[in-house]
Amino acid sequence: MRISKTKSELQAFIQNEKQKGKTIGLVPTMGALHEGHLSLLKYLRARCDILVCSIFINPTQFNDPEDLKHYPVTLDQDIEGLRTHHCDVLFLPSVDEMYPPGEQEWHIDLGDLETVWEGKHRPGHFQGVTQIVYKLFNLVKPDRACFGQKDFQQIKVIEKLIEIKNLPVTLDICPTQRDENGLALSSRNKFLSPSGEKKAAKIHEALQYIHKHIHTEHLGNLLKKGKEIIEDNTPLETEYLAICDIDTLKPVTQIHSSKKYIIVVAAWLEGIRLIDNLPL
Ligand code: PAF
Repeated sequence: MRISKTKSELQAFIQNEKQKGKTIGLVPTMGALHEGHLSLLKYLRARCDILVCSIFINPTQFNDPEDLKHYPVTLDQDIEGLRTHHCDVLFLPSVDEMYPPGEQEWHIDLGDLETVWEGKHRPGHFQGVTQIVYKLFNLVKPDRACFGQKDFQQIKVIEKLIEIKNLPVTLDICPTQRDENGLALSSRNKFLSPSGEKKAAKIHEALQYIHKHIHTEHLGNLLKKGKEIIEDNTPLETEYLAICDIDTLKPVTQIHSSKKYIIVVAAWLEGIRLIDNLPL
């Protein structure tokens, strides 16, 4: 596996492969790879000639400097995982490489996506995500790029980026990977204690409860019950739990059989913020 630390080296390689007619797949990550990331690599490995993974802890998407400071780094293990999954190129740039001084400020109109749920609770987060994903798309020029469904709002935002900038890339979404208790895999789970990991599974339990009773119980009662499942006898604190229109992510108070919905949730445990979702 080739490890490229500079944009110029990566671009030269990509250009050469594209000239040979090869298709390019990209899995953008911030490292600390887990089975969720590896499932994205497996998915694209089977569908592209050249598989590129980027590892870059993008400072502009962190609204909390402490979160950035403590973001997990497991580079040796990541490289091993990438090699096992037959990744062709690891793009591993520095902050200066991705954000050279004197660049124009980034802003893109994400509409309501920026003011609900993750957008509301992590101000500026999606501007940072779109800024770096746009840079990566421009560099790698992937035919396909793959993201995990766990960050559902991030997918919506990237869809919007692709639409606004008219980018020739196909977005692939892979299902959320979970541990044996149902907890959605996330790089930040590394910071949970073993008992915390078990308690955090209550989040998925709540989502499943709501999913199961969606047609038989009043939505307000369901959300109340979901919050109880998450919080009763656990130190978990719900930040939001809502049933939303799957396209707009606006909360709904009624379900119509002709429409699609998603349950979204964020909760805190042991100082770690956990998010999850379940489409209906
Ligand atoms: O989902 C992530 O790990 C990050 O938000 C991404 C897409 C790699 C951008 O930094």
